[in-house]
Formats: sequence, C-alpha cells, structure tokens
Amino acid sequence: MSSQFNTSVIILAAGQGTRMKSTLPKVLHAVAGRPMLGYAMLLARQVASNNVAVVVGHGADSVRTYLTQDKAQFEPFLVVEQSQQLGTGHAVQQAYPALIRHSSESASQYVIMCGDTPLLTAATLMALVSYHQSQGATLTLLTTVLPDPSGYGRVIRSAGGTVCRVVEDRDASAEEKQVSEINVGTYIVEATFLEKALGQLKPQNAQGEYYLTDIIEMGVQEGKTVMAWVTDDCLETTGVNTRVHLAVAEKEMRRRICERLMLDGVTILDPDRVVVDHSVTVGRDTVLHPGVILEGETHVGEDCTIQANSRLTNAIVHRGVKILDACILQESMVEEDAVIGPMAHVRPGSVIHKKAKVGNFVELKKTEVGEGSKVNHLSYLGDTWIGRNVNVGAGTITCNYDGYRKEQTVIEDDVFIGSDVQLIAPVTIGAGALIAAGTTVTENVPANALGISRTPQTNKEGTAARRRALLDPSVLPANGKTCQAEDRPVSTPVVQKPPESS
Ligand code: UD1
Ligand code: CA
Repeated sequence: MSSQFNTSVIILAAGQGTRMKSTLPKVLHAVAGRPMLGYAMLLARQVASNNVAVVVGHGADSVRTYLTQDKAQFEPFLVVEQSQQLGTGHAVQQAYPALIRHSSESASQYVIMCGDTPLLTAATLMALVSYHQSQGATLTLLTTVLPDPSGYGRVIRSAGGTVCRVVEDRDASAEEKQVSEINVGTYIVEATFLEKALGQLKPQNAQGEYYLTDIIEMGVQEGKTVMAWVTDDCLETTGVNTRVHLAVAEKEMRRRICERLMLDGVTILDPDRVVVDHSVTVGRDTVLHPGVILEGETHVGEDCTIQANSRLTNAIVHRGVKILDACILQESMVEEDAVIGPMAHVRPGSVIHKKAKVGNFVELKKTEVGEGSKVNHLSYLGDTWIGRNVNVGAGTITCNYDGYRKEQTVIEDDVFIGSDVQLIAPVTIGAGALIAAGTTVTENVPANALGISRTPQTNKEGTAARRRALLDPSVLPANGKTCQAEDRPVSTPVVQKPPESS
C-alpha cells in the first residue's frame, strides 16, 4: 500500500442477519471452515496501514470470542460495540471516533467493508484503492452488474454517467429497480469528508435506518469527486444474506481451494466432489479421490492417496500413506507408508506408526499402533499401546471400559494375537507372546509365553442329524454319510469373464 496514505479499515459486522434464520450471528457462519468475518479481517489486514475497527452488536460476545481466538492473524484491531443496530451509517458513526481515540496517527482515508462478503479478493480491493487514488477521489464505491440485482442497493448515475447516489432496494422506484449496477458495500472514503458526512446522516427511508450509502449523494451535492470502480467478477461480490447465498459462497471458496491445491501439484479426480477447508495443506503428488473431505487442521504429506468418501478432521498424515475407501480419521496422526482402511474409524488421540496397517472395519480410540504392526480386520482397540511388528488377529477387541473407568491395554513388540481374542484391560502382553485364537485374556501374559483360555473341543457323532430329524420330521437323517471330497468346492474359486453374448 502506498505510504503517502494512511489507511484505516472499518468492518461492519453488527447486523443480526435476520434472513439467515439462525441463532448464530451472520458473520460467524463458516465458509470453507472459516467464519465469514475471518475473510474480511484478513483482507482488512492487507489494505490497512493503520488500525482496523470491527463493529459488533448482534451476538457481540460470540463474535468477540471468535476474534480473540484467531487474534494473532488479525492484529492490530479494535472491537466497537453498536448496541442497537440502527443501520450501516450508524455503525460507522460508532467506529469512526473509536478509531480516532485508539490510533496514534490519524488515518487520511478509510476503507469500509461488510463482514458478509467473504469472496471479495485482495486484488479487487487493491484495484478499488488504486483507482480511487488515481482519480484523486473523495469517495469511491465498489460496484458490479448483476443479472438479478434484487435485494441490493442500486447505483443511480446521471445521463452523463457520473454516480449520483445509491438507492436501497426497499426505497427504489419501479424504474430504479430496473438498474442492474449494484453497490457491493465496499468503499474508500477520504477522512475529513467521512467525518463531516457521518454527522449529517438522517434515518429518512423505508427502514428508518441511518444508511451509510447516503454519504454518496452528500458527496455529489458538495461537488466532491465521487467515483465507482466496477468489477466484472459478480460472484466475488456476493453479499451473504440467506443460506442460499451462503451455499454460493461455500461452493466458490471450495472451488478456489481445490484450484490452488491442483496448481501446487495435488491431483484431484473430481474437484466438484472434494471438500477441503481453507486451513488444510496437502503435499505434492497426493491424489484425492471423489468424496474426500479434509477438515480443520488437517495436513497431508506428499505422495499419499486418499480414496473415495474418506473424511479427515484435524488429522496429520505423513508422506506415502494410503487411506482406502470410506475411512474416518479424527485428531490422529498417521506416519509414512502406513495403510488405513477401507472402512476404518480412527478416533481422537490415535497414532499409527510407519508401515503399519489398520484395515477393514477397525475402530481405534486413543490407540498407538507400532511400526509395521497390523490390525487388519474387524477390531475395536481403545486405550491401547501396541509395539512393533505385532499382528492383531481378526475380530480382536479390547474391553477397555468396566462401566466406570477406561483401562489400558499394552501389547509389546512381536506379539501374535490370534483371531477373536478379548483383552480385558488393564492387561499387558509381553514381547514375543502368542495368544491363541478365541482366548479371553484376563491376566498379564509374560514375554514369549502362549496365552490360551479355551474349553477343549468335543465332537458328538450324529447329534446334528438326530436333532434335525427331531425338529423337522420331513428331513431324513443323513444316514451317517458325509459329503465326498470331490463334492466339496475347489479351494481356489475361479473368477471368469461372463460369456460373450452373440
Ligand atoms: C447493504 C447496503 C446496500 C448494498 C449491500 C451489499 C446500506 C444501507 N445498504 O445492504 O446498498 O447493496 O449492503 O451487500 O448500507 N450492519 C451493522 N450494523 C447495522 C446494520 C448492518 O454492522 O446497524 C452490518 C451487517 O452486519 C452487514 C453489513 O453491515 O455485515 C451490511 O448490512 P446488511 O443489513 O446486510 O445490509 P444490506 O441490506 O445487505
Ligand atoms: Ca448484506
């Protein structure tokens, strides 16, 4: 920003957003995982050489809380409360004196923008500011031409094409409603004029509000240079007033995020069906299949594959990891070359080390799976620590909850656990131990021991046939005959193409 101008920014964010029909203040509705106000704050930081004032009102406490949470990104800024929302002009009337009081140097110009225009880009805002300066204007507003301008303030120009005023949709005559050039709600105004004009606003309109837009006509009447910078990107200027607009903003923001990732070397098979939050990072040569959702502080390394319909929330994934179809990963970490899924659920606090495998229908909670270890089928492991090169057999579960407390299971290096084992926590399986299939482990197993708890098997000849005959007399006893070896299915099923149709 040119240093001869000292620029402050005012962000209007006090309105209720009645048309959103929500208990959440409008500016806190998220677009690609970030509240709309966050976009305005970041944009403000790019143009402000001086302080930024955010006008809050409706839901002020939650808006303040959000601003404090993400404070580091937005500073310096000050929050100004507009306790009654008497209009956009009234909002600026609150912010202006507060900025004067809290700034060491007074600003020579003010950028005023709305907290509900999340798609607006720095390039457009900079173009507005440069145009304003090149014209030596007192006030310049950002406008665009819309196929459907309804709801927006219309820009009324003279026969010669100069800006005269902005008329709100509700105050517009039938003829004025035909105008398709609209006020985006983003302005740059020279300080002395702004101060004077704010003092002259009157609530004489359909809504009985103090309209900021009235300062445009004031400027024109005083013979000031009032200009409009018309942008041809009408999507960028979308003001979110309803959930329909919110969906438009969401879709466009996601499109931009996918485009940025693709230009940075990520393959996205169908960008229309991949949902990535603004805060997510993805490394080069990673491939995202359709239906992938990456949320919050998720960071995916290089050379990974994330297959269809997997959702990662606050997950850290190192390079070379494969996440197969339909997995859920939450607040967990996966190290290099591990394979997850298909259909695995990795719940918060889990760490999967290098080259480990967590397979089909496996649920982990607060569980660490050591390097090269495998939990491949149908398991629930909670509050469990697993060392290296462990094999956890199909259907193994930890009984980590006794109805009162969660208890820990420890499985040391090189353990082999057979299928369908229950580990009743707290319990430790020593390194190199073997647990027989079907065992219920209630006591610690020493290193290199065999742990087994099974009732010995007995076979009672003919009992099944007799029982069948008893319960269903239409079935004849099988005469003790067993099926012949050649009747059994072959051990390797043959997979063939269907015959060609003629
Ligand atoms: C406003 C403009 C309109 C423009 C449109 C662009 C006025 C009078 N109208 O209308 O010309 O086409 O934006 O989207 O300015 N706000 C406050 N305090 C208030 C009222 C509003 O802080 O008392 C904030 C809102 O939180 C919002 C912004 O100002 O971020 C705009 O308010 P909104 O009610 O959405 O104005 P529009 O009717 O859309
Ligand atoms: Ca609006």
